[in-house]
Amino acid sequence: MKIVVIGGTGLIGSKLVKKLRGHGQEVVAASPSAGVSSITGEGLADALKGASVAIDVTNSPSWEDAAVMKFFETSTRNLLEYEAAAGVGHHVALSVVGTERLLESGFFRAKLAQENLIKASAILYTIIRATQFFEFVKSIADFGTVGKTVRLPPALFQPMAADDVAGAVGRIAMGSPLKATVEIAGPEQFRLDELARRNLAAFKDPREVITDPSARYYGINVSERALVPNDDAQLGVTRFEDWLRQSTKQVPKTGRPAA
Ligand SMILES: NC(=O)c1ccc[n+]([C@@H]2O[C@H](COP(=O)([O-])OP(=O)(O)OC[C@H]3O[C@@H](n4cnc5c(N)ncnc54)[C@H](OP(=O)(O)O)[C@@H]3O)[C@@H](O)[C@H]2O)c1
Repeated sequence: MKIVVIGGTGLIGSKLVKKLRGHGQEVVAASPSAGVSSITGEGLADALKGASVAIDVTNSPSWEDAAVMKFFETSTRNLLEYEAAAGVGHHVALSVVGTERLLESGFFRAKLAQENLIKASAILYTIIRATQFFEFVKSIADFGTVGKTVRLPPALFQPMAADDVAGAVGRIAMGSPLKATVEIAGPEQFRLDELARRNLAAFKDPREVITDPSARYYGINVSERALVPNDDAQLGVTRFEDWLRQSTKQVPKTGRPAA
């Protein structure tokens, strides 16, 4: 089976490509750095020739409201059009748990637009909504930082390891199209402020995390359950503490990693 991973050089894409190749699949890692763009269409027809499955794990280079909307709308329209022409039988896309509860953010409005284009297309699809990646917790803290202080709300939070995300996306992509949205999440639930505090402490980051119910998550208000999945979400196996132990071991002596 030929599988094209669009965004195959990214955090999830590169892990996914490796896993699928490990299962003996013919995999094309498509991205601008490999001469394939879902925005301009460059290299797309060639990459998709003879493919059974296309997996979209792209992300927009800019998260500014208009730019991110333009990226996901243009990219998704192009992918669906080129995939239809190539006879691709399964379009798989990675989205985010709680997207419809986070629409104060331009990023999530763009992810919802992406999902809606997929649902309206003639191609059989599976949309996979994942919770936040463990690797993303530092960036959430960075966004809530002023000086040496991080303010975050105590919202419920069920993140997962990028490795588990890639494993679940690969497994679902090798199955039949579900014509539905499925959710994947981590095995444990935390409070966002508490997890950020543990993450920063483990990486010896001196910033103090202050619990503030009125603080924003990536610039928007979040309700207590906005970020958590439904009860039927498929759960990853990697526990945060184990990921943290492994990740802090890889810290170069000269600085902190981009966790
Ligand atoms: N962060 C989270 O916690 C989270 C949670 C749930 C879901 N997600 C979703 O997961 C997806 C993947 O995230 P990620 O963190 O793996 O992204 P990432 O590391 O930023 O990688 C983005 C990928 O998109 C590619 N790309 C950019 N512009 C492109 C274009 N015009 N044509 C084709 N490919 C293009 C990049 O290629 P180059 O390397 O060549 O630039 C790269 O391979 C995103 O859609 C995101 O919304 C994220």
